[in-house]
Amino acid sequence: MDTQIFKPTQDSIRTACDIIRNGGVVAIPTETVYGLFADATQSGACAGIFAAKDRPQDNPLIVHISDYNMLKEVAAEIPEDAMKLAEAFWPGPLTIILKKTALIPDTTSAGLDTVGIRMPSNPVVLEIISKTSLPLAGPSANRSGRPSPTDAHTVYEDMKGRIPLVLDGGDCKIGVESTVVSLAGVQPVIFRPGYITKARLEDVLHKEVLLSKGITEELSTDEKVLSPGLKHKHYAPKADVVIVNADFEKYKQLVESENAAALCFDEYADRLNAVCVCYGSEKDSAQQAVKLFHCLRKLDEIGAGKVYAMMPSTEDVGLAVYNRLLRAAAFRVVNL
Ligand code: TXA
Ligand code: MG
Repeated sequence: MDTQIFKPTQDSIRTACDIIRNGGVVAIPTETVYGLFADATQSGACAGIFAAKDRPQDNPLIVHISDYNMLKEVAAEIPEDAMKLAEAFWPGPLTIILKKTALIPDTTSAGLDTVGIRMPSNPVVLEIISKTSLPLAGPSANRSGRPSPTDAHTVYEDMKGRIPLVLDGGDCKIGVESTVVSLAGVQPVIFRPGYITKARLEDVLHKEVLLSKGITEELSTDEKVLSPGLKHKHYAPKADVVIVNADFEKYKQLVESENAAALCFDEYADRLNAVCVCYGSEKDSAQQAVKLFHCLRKLDEIGAGKVYAMMPSTEDVGLAVYNRLLRAAAFRVVNL
């Protein structure tokens, strides 16, 4: 299959809508990362997403909507807390897990009785959802296990020959995937941290929001997981990444003594006698989020073997950065 890349124009958007209506898959930008989108109500279309990504069959897809009528079509129950969060953060980088309706087939929800729902804010994806009048399933547009793509060329690298069309809407503004919060249980639980932080969710709900264990700890293989994505291998560059929690002098000594590459903050590159890939300012977690996935791929491009990553803050948006980096490092952290 030939894979074309077009800027989003009236013509290419119409083509994208036609492909999706016919059960095909298109890569489309969102404000978080690029997604692979297909009709969430067609089992065969969603099977096409799983095939394009080589995605494990037990990992459910997020369903993207453009208005509140679609929310009613896909969610069997809409608790008051869901409306509060939707009003505060939609359209935007928040996915809310609710009980699903029969409109969402098992292929989409990977057999679960719940569905993750998000109203994205990127105008291109929003226009395509509303023009097709279909809820669209949309995982990140990477091959399974690779860092999520934040620009169209990275999508092309992973999806060439696998999907017919990539819409190139430029770089993603947020850079890490949406916060995933479940309202399907007794208490709200974050399954995946993102740009919308725990504190901001709690401010709106006026109650505690829990953090799922798999966010900062490796789950054992026999552990019951509520969100399958927590146990799958993720964001892995080919390089061997280890996170280092240490002061700068100790970090420098470790990197230089082993001739390793440094995945470091901008402020320190000048002082390191090593190949450096900078993932933003130490003080700016949101900037680190924008850059991280691109930097992980860059490490592969430069053929890095051993990589020592500077430990990010784990506060607020920093938790989303740390969670992705931790998975890229297969949970290896050294404390010096
Ligand atoms: O920002 C995003 O969310 C991007 C853009 C394209 O919208 N999408 C995305 O999808 O990151 P994906 O498939 O790469 O990640 C979805 C995560 C997975 O970890 C999955 O296990 C979890 O959300 N998830 C989806 N539906 C779920 C459900 N019903 N219950 C528990 N976890 C769910
Ligand atoms: Mg993903």
